[in-house]
Amino acid sequence: MPLVAPSLLAADFLHLEKACQLLNESEADWFHLDVMDGNFVPNISFGPMIIAFMRPMTKKPFDVHLMIQEPGRYAEEFRKAGADHLTVHLEACPHLHRNLQQIRSLGMKTGVAINPHTPVSALADVLYETDIVCMMSVNPGFGGQQFIPHTLEKIRELRSMIDQRGLSTLIEIDGGVTEANAPSIVAAGAGVLVAGSTVFHATDPMAMITKLKAS
Ligand code: DX5
Ligand code: ZN
Repeated sequence: MPLVAPSLLAADFLHLEKACQLLNESEADWFHLDVMDGNFVPNISFGPMIIAFMRPMTKKPFDVHLMIQEPGRYAEEFRKAGADHLTVHLEACPHLHRNLQQIRSLGMKTGVAINPHTPVSALADVLYETDIVCMMSVNPGFGGQQFIPHTLEKIRELRSMIDQRGLSTLIEIDGGVTEANAPSIVAAGAGVLVAGSTVFHATDPMAMITKLKAS
């Protein structure tokens, strides 16, 4: 059964408390929190302040996806705000290994996100330091985009890299995940499904989370 991490980016920000309550009562495993700086990606979302406001609302892990340049400058601040997992983009990190060491030393799980154009092979030498690979199945920056089908091949390739090394790194798929494509994503070897619009724009978000869990 995959883990399901609804992305709050698609929630109603005027009623974030309601969104938190909904996820608490649902089968959601993690809260996926998308931080964008308007520089690494062409959109600006929210930062540590909003995350800190949400933290007392739930006991579920906060999976924080940083789509920002120089994420190392903010790692400690996100830890203080309540991040449990901190994911940085490979493309934004010339010293990725150092970033991952920093995240671990702050007591968080390490995540590496890769854009659709980045080959899975680029992860080979950091896989041992990586708890979660966040594989982007859309170009990061916006919710509600179409899943890129080639991602399925990348999942299979990464699955075998992880298995060959005997690691327990989780493969998280982020972008365009729907009830329809979730089963093939899981069959390819992913362990975590991020879903924004599919969950929050559903007529029954709670039931949608249950459906995704059953993929
Ligand atoms: C995109 C974000 C995603 C986004 C997913 O840059 O990283 O987490 O919220 O949204 P959907 O599920 O609507 O594609
Ligand atoms: Zn994300």
